[in-house]
Amino acid sequence: MIRKYTIGNPIPTGSVVTPVKAEEGLLPGWAFDSEGKTLSYSMREDDLVYGLGETVRGMNKRGWIYTSNNADDPFHLEDKRSLYASQNFIMLIPGKLSGRQIGGEGGEAGRDGLSGGLFGLYVDTPGVIHFDIGFTDLDTLTIRFEDFDADIYLITEDTPRKIVKELRALTGRSYIPPKWAFGFGQSRWGYKSADDIREVVDSYRREDIPFDSVYLDIDYMERFKDFTVNKENFPAFEDFVTEMKEEGVHLVPIIDAGVKIEEGYSVYEEGVRNKYFVTKEDGSELVGAVWPGRVHFPDFLNSKARKWFGRCYSFLLDKGIDGFWNDMNEPAIFYTEDRLNSVLEQVDQFKGRDLGVMEFWQFRGLVTSLENNRDDYKTFYHDYDGTRVRHDKVHNIYGFQMTRAAGEAFEELCPDKRILMFSRSSYIGMHRYGGVWTGDNKSWWSHIKLNIQQMPGLNMCGFLYSGADTGGFGADTTEDLLMRWTAVSIFTPLFRNHSALGTRSQEFYRFPKVKQFRDLVRLRYALLPYIYSEFMKAALGDDMYALPLAFVYGDDERARRVEDQLLIGESIMIAPVYEQNALGRYVYLPEEMKLIRFRTDSDYDEEILPAGDHYIPLKLNEVAVFLRKGHCLPLADLSAAAGPVKGMEDAFSCPLKFITFEADPEDYVRYDDDGITRI
Ligand code: GLC
Repeated sequence: MIRKYTIGNPIPTGSVVTPVKAEEGLLPGWAFDSEGKTLSYSMREDDLVYGLGETVRGMNKRGWIYTSNNADDPFHLEDKRSLYASQNFIMLIPGKLSGRQIGGEGGEAGRDGLSGGLFGLYVDTPGVIHFDIGFTDLDTLTIRFEDFDADIYLITEDTPRKIVKELRALTGRSYIPPKWAFGFGQSRWGYKSADDIREVVDSYRREDIPFDSVYLDIDYMERFKDFTVNKENFPAFEDFVTEMKEEGVHLVPIIDAGVKIEEGYSVYEEGVRNKYFVTKEDGSELVGAVWPGRVHFPDFLNSKARKWFGRCYSFLLDKGIDGFWNDMNEPAIFYTEDRLNSVLEQVDQFKGRDLGVMEFWQFRGLVTSLENNRDDYKTFYHDYDGTRVRHDKVHNIYGFQMTRAAGEAFEELCPDKRILMFSRSSYIGMHRYGGVWTGDNKSWWSHIKLNIQQMPGLNMCGFLYSGADTGGFGADTTEDLLMRWTAVSIFTPLFRNHSALGTRSQEFYRFPKVKQFRDLVRLRYALLPYIYSEFMKAALGDDMYALPLAFVYGDDERARRVEDQLLIGESIMIAPVYEQNALGRYVYLPEEMKLIRFRTDSDYDEEILPAGDHYIPLKLNEVAVFLRKGHCLPLADLSAAAGPVKGMEDAFSCPLKFITFEADPEDYVRYDDDGITRI
């Protein structure tokens, strides 16, 4: 059941697709403080709180404060409050103290009028809010609003997954990418030319590692201008796209939010002519700076501007491109022209002075204040279809509306075809138009764990097609880290190796243990029939693909506390190794399960283990999959392939084999459509 409560005068976000009539009165069970602009809820010691999508810390969000304020921040550390996305949905899963077991029938009358304590809460507001989940007081959940205007949806059902389903009914079905987007993709900021890309393709082919896509980062553009191609480095781009396609490789270019200010550049000129860019108080366009230098930002909240920007993608679609990633759409602003001028003036005053520590810090602060300054978000405006709105009031939906621009254009321009789309910044509702990647992580072991922990949060909020930069974006990777991380990413719908300019190269073929990487990637391809089927079930059934154990084994106190294992689809659980030099790990089995220890897609052993704690030895090249009783795991039998397995299509044309645990393969529901036609 969904109940809606409206506070103040919320600015619409475009997130909800099924209107709900607002209730009279206040949110039941919550204390309302209009002066402090807060809503508070008393948690019991054993309540779990999940959600918030892509955030720092654990799956259970208790014990920290999270701020929805989309931020371009590459340091995903424990003390951060905001990352790139605002996914304002939380779910409280009660423990035994609430007098009712989740998932069970009936039970005692609920506490606080919230059917036994299990509930989901979606806070739909485009501005900044804080979720204090036991930060100020361990047992109090407080939502603090900067503007006390929001539509709040309270969802009560008897299981967590039914709550997720209701949220999806409210906000729309999850985006479904083309099937090839489930293959492996190689990316790096630094591939500069068609020849660089050819070298990547040739090297993967030489090492017989399957893949389906290579990503084009900003260097494919002419001076970092959206919807242009650098003719020197990519002569005959269209032919190159065809050449790659014939090789079975999809090229996936990046699109940035900022549009370069340059006379004669048609996107810039059209945008100015039609007033499609955000403006300052005086009505002139905001001048910011991102990769191309000085830019204007399209007003994605203006439906005409959105339509215009969306149609710009046809420049690349017409050249045969069928996938994109949208970036820098928080929006990231290196500096605004106004602030730069003011900082330069102030910096000038430090010239020739003997800087004591305070002055030095002041000086340094001036320079660092330039980038992504929150105050800059208060200096520009949107034409939100007739209403002038200051950006900071709608900040969190900017990236969503950019991706919506693309998604709506694809529906119009390619009505029959699925186009790959994922974005860095997001808000609930964007999940209808694209997936997300988790931004600029680092080659840190802790970020493998973070990747595992972010997956269910993202799934709950509708972002099924998601994944992290495998191997880490910033910092130098190591061979073992990349291998353990790959052993996680072979299970995430988006499986991409991406890294930053200037870091150690991390394509799989660069490492001595290339054979083990090949085996891992081949295992992904063998798993594709399962991964694709489970993804489609989650998308079409408004369900989750990656689940915390608490969602299925909610009555098991041990399972409820597991933070580093995931259920992937209906049949399996994974328990990745994410510590350097570890040669195994402890795994908690909530029920009897069959351990499948994969060394390659055709070399594995099986062992039935009783419920409970187990130490599972896992060498660097081994991947543990735990098959649930009464389930089976379909695998593409790559050893029976007619030729080399180069990519998704080859894997899907292999015969299937099944690993079963007291289950009949006939009962397994499989999805295997053409992978292109829109569903
Ligand atoms: C941003 C993106 C990253 C990309 C880089 C250059 O940092 O998050 O993935 O490589 O910009 O475009």
